[in-house]
Amino acid sequence: MSTMSTRSAWRALHYSAKRRAFQPATPFRCFSCTRAAQDQSKQDQERMTHFGFTNVPESSKDRRSLQLRRLLLRHNERPDVPGNPPHLEGPLRPIPKPRIPLSARINNPTQKGWNILDIAGGTGDIAFRMLDHATNVNHDIETRVTISDINADMLAEGRKRSIDTPYYNTPRLSFVEANAQSMPHIPSNSVDLYTVVFGIRNFTDKQAALNEAFRVLKPGGVFACMEFSKVDNPVFDAVYKRWNFSAIPLIGQLVAGDRDSYQYLVESIEQFPRQEEFKGMIQKAGFMIPGRGYENLTGGIAAIHKGIKPIKA
Ligand SMILES: C[S@@+](CC[C@H](N)C(=O)[O-])C[C@H]1O[C@@H](n2cnc3c(N)ncnc32)[C@H](O)[C@@H]1O
Repeated sequence: MSTMSTRSAWRALHYSAKRRAFQPATPFRCFSCTRAAQDQSKQDQERMTHFGFTNVPESSKDRRSLQLRRLLLRHNERPDVPGNPPHLEGPLRPIPKPRIPLSARINNPTQKGWNILDIAGGTGDIAFRMLDHATNVNHDIETRVTISDINADMLAEGRKRSIDTPYYNTPRLSFVEANAQSMPHIPSNSVDLYTVVFGIRNFTDKQAALNEAFRVLKPGGVFACMEFSKVDNPVFDAVYKRWNFSAIPLIGQLVAGDRDSYQYLVESIEQFPRQEEFKGMIQKAGFMIPGRGYENLTGGIAAIHKGIKPIKA
């Protein structure tokens, strides 16, 4: 994961930001409007969570993730967005779905290789790289990845990209639409490696997702998470924050014509727990922490966290 390219980092940034693009003009951003006052009693009865620096009801946050739909596809076809192909021709081809049920594919003890679950992996970038690594470096053609995402359109995008890979329409790659906080269709103790890259920051209940990761992993299975994190050097941190809060929304405005989405992105990065706190949450889910538990990338702009499910839980 540490060899993430600029292109996939941009794509992750872009998709993170685009989640915000679908927001209706919510009463919660407009602190003085009458609608906010009208909705106050309902808010009081609901558990609140953050959406960037804005508090929203928990129930609406997951729904917001689903609002990516058409706009995302439209953006992916824009040749001026970095990481997009220069030109896409013709209508999207229909993409066949695998015929073997997920539970059979994910919990077959006779299968060799690793069973990897890539959470919030809609675009497929991480899954394709892991399969490439297994195939080309480890000479392992059995390892398979299930890409899971809450957003059907993100999964459709991943399926579309998979057409250009050797894994397209093979048992090595499958897609499932699910909320990472509850995945009852994925059997307990069935996964060798659980990955979540630039995804968990967006989850409403991060601890619930970590608990679910613990449940689905086999004893000895590995949890690996890459996420934007906290810069440890105070001088670098000041520069980075200044850059984040001024340049990124501006770039979003110039490149995608959407300042608010990129504002949400930097706010959600700021809201994510510090490395030590997040490590504590991983431990709380039941994982053993190898060594320090995380590796900072570029001074902490991002960090890779790891946890191992004990053999005897
Ligand atoms: C920035 S994208 C991650 C992209 C991908 N992992 C990569 O690095 O290219 C964040 C993803 O998290 C997904 N997501 C947000 N909340 C989720 C949830 N509760 N469960 C599963 N996926 C979720 C979004 O649909 C989106 O596809």
